[in-house]
Amino acid sequence: MANVAIIGAQWGDEGKGKIVDLFTQDADIIVRFQGGNNAGHTLVVDGQKTVLHLVPSGALHADKFCVIGNGVVVDPEFLIEEIDALKRRGHLQDDSRLRISEQAHVIMPYHKLIDQARERLRGEGMIGTTGRGIGPAYEDKVARVGIRFVDLLEEDTFREKLERNIAEKNFYLKAILKENTLDFDAIHRSYGLFRERLKGYVENTGLLLDREVRAGKRVLFEGAQGTLLDVDHGTYPFVTSSSTITGGACSGSGIGPQHIQQVIGISKAYTTRVGSGPFPTELHGPDGETLRREGAEFGATTGRSRRCGWFDAVGVRHAVRTNGLTGLALTKLDVLTGFKQIPICTAYRYEGSTINEFPASSKIMQNAKPVYQEMNGWDSPLDAVRKFSDLPANAQKYVRRIEEVIGTEIILVSVGPGREQTILLKNPFEEKPVGSRQ
Ligand code: IMP
Repeated sequence: MANVAIIGAQWGDEGKGKIVDLFTQDADIIVRFQGGNNAGHTLVVDGQKTVLHLVPSGALHADKFCVIGNGVVVDPEFLIEEIDALKRRGHLQDDSRLRISEQAHVIMPYHKLIDQARERLRGEGMIGTTGRGIGPAYEDKVARVGIRFVDLLEEDTFREKLERNIAEKNFYLKAILKENTLDFDAIHRSYGLFRERLKGYVENTGLLLDREVRAGKRVLFEGAQGTLLDVDHGTYPFVTSSSTITGGACSGSGIGPQHIQQVIGISKAYTTRVGSGPFPTELHGPDGETLRREGAEFGATTGRSRRCGWFDAVGVRHAVRTNGLTGLALTKLDVLTGFKQIPICTAYRYEGSTINEFPASSKIMQNAKPVYQEMNGWDSPLDAVRKFSDLPANAQKYVRRIEEVIGTEIILVSVGPGREQTILLKNPFEEKPVGSRQ
């Protein structure tokens, strides 16, 4: 039995929520290890839709443990609202089943204000952030001035850190960003209330995970965003501020790499992106509109309409390599029904050269032209298909060709948002660990 990481292989929104929910059945503990409430994981269970932003997707299963790891940045007000909303719907009744790392950093009001003000000032060059304060919270973490849950819990430490930060941030807000300043007392008071509400959930989760893994419990690491938004390996600077790849699962949960045996990437059968930044296979005409409409491509967090384009194997190959993917789940194949031809981007062209590997240069990425292989489409709807062999022949060929060009096995094909609308080819929890001799 293996522990499994689920990682976005594109620019986020690949349908991780559904896949995590599906594999949660085989796990005991589900861990979020990076990002914050910039994520939006949509789950449809018995026709009921739930969008989770911070709480791990395991929350819909009563018998699972959910961990918010040290790598996550947590907006406490938002988390309380999410917990309350889940409780109202009958979930998370047992508080001991949700744990927050004492080392997770707390998003403060100045993080949100700075994030939004900077985006306004960037104008044309905006990143298109979610405005949730994610980047500024990670900046403070790396600058060693962040406030962690363990600091929030100590009344005197919290006061001291907040006083120092407010003085600095107010100067920055006023002098540089031309924004209103923030009031220490109001923040101190409201965060005091958040402390009281959340303190029962706070724990040394690294220790907890180590203990449980040694006791044979199975862990599912739930990635947020995607590889191409990774702060090191994505389309920098149009990225998020965390380590979205498998390596982030170790640093963001406090567990060694030997405890992650299977890494499943999630990719749509086409590509989408929200926010700014290069996107070589983006479609600006009617085909892009069709993908947006048929795939309901509107952001789960901000409601923004997503940019849509064909499958980009250069990007997904990059994800296979940087994450060490042991398999890929291909989602939303049903959305491609009706297209006569479906191109797969196998490489880029730039200034007369062919590029097979994902470039680091923004200039090259912005100007790269996709090299397409045309695949024949199919007409029949896929939403009721449950067996790979029941897929139309051209849909099977499309999946198999993707497998070839990205160089990893497709272990699951999703043909609709429901749990049951899934063709499972291999269960990663039942796989032997990579490198295992048994
Ligand atoms: P931030 O994470 O809010 O700083 O936003 C940085 C970039 O990542 C922007 O382009 C966002 O649209 C994008 N982004 C952040 N979270 C997600 C996500 O969960 N899905 C897709 N894009 C995201």
